[in-house]
Amino acid sequence: ASNMSLESLQKYEDEISALSKGNGWSPSSCLYLYKGFWFHPILLTGVLYARDNFEAQPSDVFLCSFMKTGCTWLKALSFYIATRTQFDDSTSPLRTLVPHYCVPFLERGFQYLTTSGVKTPLFGSHLPYTLLPKSIIDSGCKIVYLCRDPKDTFVSLWNFFRKAPGMSESEDQLVSLKEGFELFCKGLCPYGYGPYWDHVLGYWKASLERPEKILFLKYEDMKEDTEACVKKLADFFGCPFSIDEEKQGMVQKIIKFCSFESLSNLEVNKTGKTPGMIENNAVFRKGKVGDWRNCLNAGMGERLDNVMEEKLTGSGLTF
Ligand code: A3P
Repeated sequence: ASNMSLESLQKYEDEISALSKGNGWSPSSCLYLYKGFWFHPILLTGVLYARDNFEAQPSDVFLCSFMKTGCTWLKALSFYIATRTQFDDSTSPLRTLVPHYCVPFLERGFQYLTTSGVKTPLFGSHLPYTLLPKSIIDSGCKIVYLCRDPKDTFVSLWNFFRKAPGMSESEDQLVSLKEGFELFCKGLCPYGYGPYWDHVLGYWKASLERPEKILFLKYEDMKEDTEACVKKLADFFGCPFSIDEEKQGMVQKIIKFCSFESLSNLEVNKTGKTPGMIENNAVFRKGKVGDWRNCLNAGMGERLDNVMEEKLTGSGLTF
């Protein structure tokens, strides 16, 4: 990230090189095991930097998720909810920026990747609960966690990774779908952050212990009853919808603006590209529940379900 000094980067290089290594999703990429989670080295520097430098304010709110579980949608909804008295559909920064750029990202030097100039209490992160900078927990910050059926998450990740610059070499050097699937089942993902089950479990347990601080959501529930989730988010952020807002259809307006169809058809999301980043449209693929069936066979689905079931046994959480 832009605000990291070379000195701090070098310091982290040494720390990183002492960690255990595992296979990435292409021959030239490897992952490092840091406190129980795998990370691609380009992300790990930012993780360590956040660990040492991030100072949370009690009012900060964190939108946390594993990759490809729907955080683009969560960020859009949350940003709209938090700024609804300042903007409407025609003036919202969401019209000209990908949702990711409206919210600073914790492990990228906690900066805005580009800025809308609009400050909200929101931050995004893919960090596991146990690796969040200590001040976030100590300050009692609110956290929203979004998870998704592991099969759809894997398929979304697989498709995304194949388009990502810097991660994948030429097409023929990428791991096959089968190999990627095997790696995912072992907790190894192209950018890291896995194992998926440990990621989900960390937030799940924390949400049981401190439900007033951690709101645990599933993508499938957001799809099924978006209205209930949007109201839950507004209540959780401390800015519930007023009776007047409800009468005026504010909740429906937000849902419509942030829907897959509407967001993915905005010019910025259809054709935009931020320098050094992936094309904006890569974060909008299908936005469906159950799309894994078009990519994995029933046996693979069952296998991943079994892995998850075994790991989540006794937690009370199911997918
Ligand atoms: P698919 O690849 O299954 O289509 P993330 O935002 O965490 O990167 O997750 C990406 C997934 O969320 C993709 O899933 C993407 O299509 C879906 N998505 C993006 N925007 C969405 C929206 N507004 N509503 C529902 N799903 C959305």
